[in-house]
Amino acid sequence: MKILVTGGAGFIGSAVCRLLVGETGDQVVNVDKLTYAGTLTSVAEIAGSPNYSFVQADIADRAAIKAIFDTHKPDAVLHLAAESHVDRSIVGAGPFIETNIVGTYVMLDCALDYWRGLSGDAKAAFRFVHVSTDEVYGSLGADGLFEETTPYAPTSPYSSSKAAADHLALAWWHTYGLPVLVSNCSNNYGPYHFPEKLIPLMILNGLDRRPLPVYGDGSNIRDWLFVEDHARALRTILKTGRPGEKYNVGGRNERTNLQVVHTICDLLDELAPNTAGSHRDLITYVTDRPGHDHRYAIDATKLETELGWTAREDFESGIRKTVEWYLARADWWEPLRAEYDGRRLGLLNAKAG
Ligand code: NAD
Ligand code: TYD
Repeated sequence: MKILVTGGAGFIGSAVCRLLVGETGDQVVNVDKLTYAGTLTSVAEIAGSPNYSFVQADIADRAAIKAIFDTHKPDAVLHLAAESHVDRSIVGAGPFIETNIVGTYVMLDCALDYWRGLSGDAKAAFRFVHVSTDEVYGSLGADGLFEETTPYAPTSPYSSSKAAADHLALAWWHTYGLPVLVSNCSNNYGPYHFPEKLIPLMILNGLDRRPLPVYGDGSNIRDWLFVEDHARALRTILKTGRPGEKYNVGGRNERTNLQVVHTICDLLDELAPNTAGSHRDLITYVTDRPGHDHRYAIDATKLETELGWTAREDFESGIRKTVEWYLARADWWEPLRAEYDGRRLGLLNAKAG
């Protein structure tokens, strides 16, 4: 298959590109604007492959996206490009509206024009997978799980923009018949994760003996999935999912933020011990995130039973691999840390307007 991947220079998109090019043998066209979050070093290992190409483009640029469809004639789209960091959305929602909502609209509309021009088997086989998040469902209390039928109740500018995009994507199925599928995944972690997000930030701050900022009291819960398991789930949804359907993706690995940070500290104590003391000594409780969702947890039964996907990593195996990867790959993260130094993002008094 020839698959147009958007956001393939980002964290999850690069894992998808590496999987499809390296393991599956599909042809991949990676379309990415290369924002602060995108770096071609994340796809360096496949850059020379004959079944891989890269186009720098903004998904909100209709002329550019139309030209990419006309030139590359894909069999499917895996749409991951997005602004992805909740804290950045709090201080400036503009890029989230532009990329996540307008950009998704442009992708859908260009895909529709292109799909209408197909015929026969090519038209029947075409797929557009819109990659989204469990954050569209809002926040859970102590009990319950997000199911595909859970009503949308997003709370942050980020999750609201993703929810809008999900609604647009399914509208293009219901209204125009474009074969769209939507995936809603829990928090990812693993190699090539930009060091503004909890797990890589804690690893790199820990190595630098800098404070480990835990928002609020650290009791918020996230459901963690190793990024390569997510990439395999997206491939499964693309190849075997049913158009018009939503699929939740998650590995049943709920942890409080404090549990996550403790696990990272203990791994750093083991793998990168420091005579200055335990990494747990660096934990610092800081002002909570505005509108901080308390708990996310995914029920992935539909994906597991209907499409046969299961997660390979549990949190303990995945987080060890992740810490080991960051210890080995300073060449990847050092330039990014130079650009973004780990300063606190997302406080209201820092609102950019
Ligand atoms: P990321 O921020 O690491 O990467 C996003 C990529 O999109 C970057 O390479 C960036 O350059 C590119 N991009 C941004 N704006 C663009 C534009 N206008 N045009 C073209 N490219 C653009 O994000 P990620 O964590 O890899 O997330 C990928 C997708 O998965 C997003 O849609 C996100 O909402 C979703 N998701 C993420 C998680 C998670 O835990 N990270 C969980 C579930 C779903
Ligand atoms: P994050 O990685 O930003 O993902 P999301 O907000 O999309 O879930 O944050 C994960 C959790 O960690 C979230 O509850 C906020 C918390 N957090 C901290 O406690 N400290 C930090 O420095 C960051 C970045 C996040």
